[in-house]
Amino acid sequence: MKYEIRLAQADEFLDVAALDRITWPSMNDTFIPDGEHIWRVWCDYANLLVAEIQDREPLSESHLIAGALVMFPTKQHEQVLHKIMVHPICRGKGIGKALMKEALEGARVPVLLTVDPENKPAVKLYEGFGFRERQRIDGYYRPHEHRLIMAFEPGNSP
Ligand SMILES: CC(C)(COP(=O)(O)OP(=O)(O)OC[C@H]1O[C@@H](n2cnc3c(N)ncnc32)[C@H](O)[C@@H]1OP(=O)(O)O)[C@@H](O)C(=O)NCCC(=O)NCCS
Repeated sequence: MKYEIRLAQADEFLDVAALDRITWPSMNDTFIPDGEHIWRVWCDYANLLVAEIQDREPLSESHLIAGALVMFPTKQHEQVLHKIMVHPICRGKGIGKALMKEALEGARVPVLLTVDPENKPAVKLYEGFGFRERQRIDGYYRPHEHRLIMAFEPGNSP
């Protein structure tokens, strides 16, 4: 599968929002995707990367965006990696890794994220890039929705 990692364009916000609606595993959470409006804003103001499939298979023409990652600065002068997602039929082919590599290249400040402790593929992906657990917060969202806060410190790559 051929793909290109690049910044999202403004007119792709609906495609990324659509990916967000289908991509998430139902584990402990009742998952609510981010709204279309915020994806439009992230196209303009965040670091929103997409993986665009170039050989059109196995996705149909209307689903060329196979993956996305959004990251933005925080008021604590760190970055937060809010979300990374890969279309279910495109997983295990290195797209997640390619998105992470592009996002972290040249990082000058710590990068934080939160993840469901039971989401093993994601935790393993993050650990592979040098993210380490900073804190576990039980009931981070609703009482049964726990989160690990993981951090990547520039210069501490594995
Ligand atoms: C997590 C996710 C982004 C990984 O994307 P992907 O394109 O399948 O990942 P890659 O093929 O690049 O694999 C990268 C690494 O992730 C880990 N990984 C991926 N799938 C895995 C699985 N099923 N089980 C365990 N580890 C897995 C491995 O460490 C892998 O590296 P390796 O192949 O050298 O062992 C993808 O599974 C996804 O979109 N999940 C749903 C959304 C989600 O949970 N996002 C993160 C929430 S915080």
